[in-house]
Amino acid sequence: MRTNSSETVEPGDDPADGWFPESVAATYDDPGGANAPDVVTPMVDVLAELADGPVLEFAVGTGRIAAPLAARGVRVSGIELSRAMAARIADKPGGNAVDVTIGDMSSTRLPGRFSLVYLVFNTIGNVTTQDGQVDVFRNAAAHLRPGGLFLVEVGLPGVRGLPPGQDTVPFAVAPGRDGGGYVGFDQYDVVTQEFTSNHVTVSPDGKGRFRRIPFRYAWPAEMDLMARIAGMTLKYRWAGWDRSELTADSTKHVSVWEKSEDGLTPGAGRTATAG
Ligand SMILES: C[S@@+](CC[C@H](N)C(=O)[O-])C[C@H]1O[C@@H](n2cnc3c(N)ncnc32)[C@H](O)[C@@H]1O
Repeated sequence: MRTNSSETVEPGDDPADGWFPESVAATYDDPGGANAPDVVTPMVDVLAELADGPVLEFAVGTGRIAAPLAARGVRVSGIELSRAMAARIADKPGGNAVDVTIGDMSSTRLPGRFSLVYLVFNTIGNVTTQDGQVDVFRNAAAHLRPGGLFLVEVGLPGVRGLPPGQDTVPFAVAPGRDGGGYVGFDQYDVVTQEFTSNHVTVSPDGKGRFRRIPFRYAWPAEMDLMARIAGMTLKYRWAGWDRSELTADSTKHVSVWEKSEDGLTPGAGRTATAG
């Protein structure tokens, strides 16, 4: 079985593109799934409503969200690690208007102040250390004007699905019609909060591909603390783009933090004045 684990890349892939090189970018925009209009449109609706001036997408990818948002007249900038992904933005309606910078969202700083920074599709989890995720929150806050908003869409940690003593939760077992098929499972380390998403695809002739992508999970409360460290406080928390209430059965959250009007870290400010 041919593998594409963390140790190998496909021919033609640039290792600098990280987990989203050419071989992934080539099919990222395929119709359906995350690209279906009934997925994309509600996201763009919410983001357009929250935008009150220029916006910035961290990890903008192929412009799945940024391009249709720009097509509505919102000024959109993006930071993206993978050149292979970013190369596809301009192909989409609205994409030519998206101002893209290749870089790391935890450290790349663009000029200007934005009304909204957003980071969707679980991508905060691609930063696999707590320090790195805090840096993402800090960098988001650094790009916001006072009162600006930082929005994150991310799945809730799947660890509640772990049977006692086991570290793996399957999320898909899909036999193909002509043989082969697809199996997906997440494997958790509940001590480090690191996990891997594992994708095994077998073609009808028996050839297969194993992709293993590392993530870090964090509960919403930990993200509230990261936001607080960065000088932001929670404004909205929804179970999805329909703004429904988060419950114990929710599978993801869409959270929005607001940068304080004075730009101070809430906790640090209070400690300093109490001192
Ligand atoms: C699941 S895709 C999401 C793309 C886009 N936001 C969307 O919703 O379709 C994740 C993207 O994050 C990018 N990425 C991962 N880590 C990054 C980082 N530290 N800085 C910038 N981009 C990053 C990847 O290259 C990839 O394009």
